[in-house]
Amino acid sequence: MKHLLSVSDLTPDTALELLDEANRFEQALVGREVRKLPTLRGRTIMTVFYENSTRTRVSFEVAGKWMSADVINVGISASSVSKGESLRDTAMTLHAAGADALVVRHPASGAPAQIANWTRGPDGTGPAVINAGDGTHEHPTQALLDAYTLRQRLGEIAGRRIVIVGDVLHSRVARSNAQLLAMLGAEVVLVAPPTLLPVGIDSWPVTVGHSLEAELPAADAVMMLRVQAERMNGSFFPSAREYAISYGLNEKRMLMLPEHAVVLHPGPMVRGMEIGFSVADSPRSTVLQQVTNGVHIRMAVLFRLLIGVDDAGEAV
Ligand code: CP
Repeated sequence: MKHLLSVSDLTPDTALELLDEANRFEQALVGREVRKLPTLRGRTIMTVFYENSTRTRVSFEVAGKWMSADVINVGISASSVSKGESLRDTAMTLHAAGADALVVRHPASGAPAQIANWTRGPDGTGPAVINAGDGTHEHPTQALLDAYTLRQRLGEIAGRRIVIVGDVLHSRVARSNAQLLAMLGAEVVLVAPPTLLPVGIDSWPVTVGHSLEAELPAADAVMMLRVQAERMNGSFFPSAREYAISYGLNEKRMLMLPEHAVVLHPGPMVRGMEIGFSVADSPRSTVLQQVTNGVHIRMAVLFRLLIGVDDAGEAV
């Protein structure tokens, strides 16, 4: 695997290997006063975020630093992008400046894949490109960290029923999670207002329900999505109030879940609309565990792309 642009770059085996690798990194760091492994010493990772981020950007930076890589965060507003430099010229410049990995977030679906094409040399060399969220398309490392969290909390993913709720239309998290969880053998159910379901949903490996309350009693996990108002051009239907009434996970609804079931949210949360304040802070909520797991998953992905493994799963 040269890049991680989409969940379709993974097979069930490589996805499970990445979860196992993340676990090895997590265990390797337990109890250490100095969280520094020599794994990526001498490698240069550049994060290039054309959209805001807290969790993804910080966790890639922490992951790289814990593995001793040099990590450079390219601040877009302070870069020559603000002088009109194109995406291609920016990517080629960072490649020429020595990036071994480019971690890219961009509002345009497909931008990281385009960067991977531009920076690939005739001999196939070039930086590893990781999609850190592109438009409404994909967020593969989010799906991996969610799968890792589900495995920690529920054991096996295969056979579990995962209900994904909310603004599916604009959610790269939903798209990547639906693919990855189905690939790992889960049953995925989407619950969304009809106006917030994408055209072509029939081709997704999911079933669609329209009543959250009908789905909760049989769910092993419920994954709440952020309502992405910034992608709606000011027209949000249903209204925020209607949305909260029909699709918000409040305390009363949380009690309809089986006792073992957990509540995920990729963050940032809009408390009071898609998720209740007490639900977000309840013991069932995995929100902060997902953030912690994001560091270990990103360590595993950087390791896989920058060091590689042979067919037997050993580092090369
Ligand atoms: N889940 C997620 O992508 O969060 P950030 O936008 O803060 O990176």
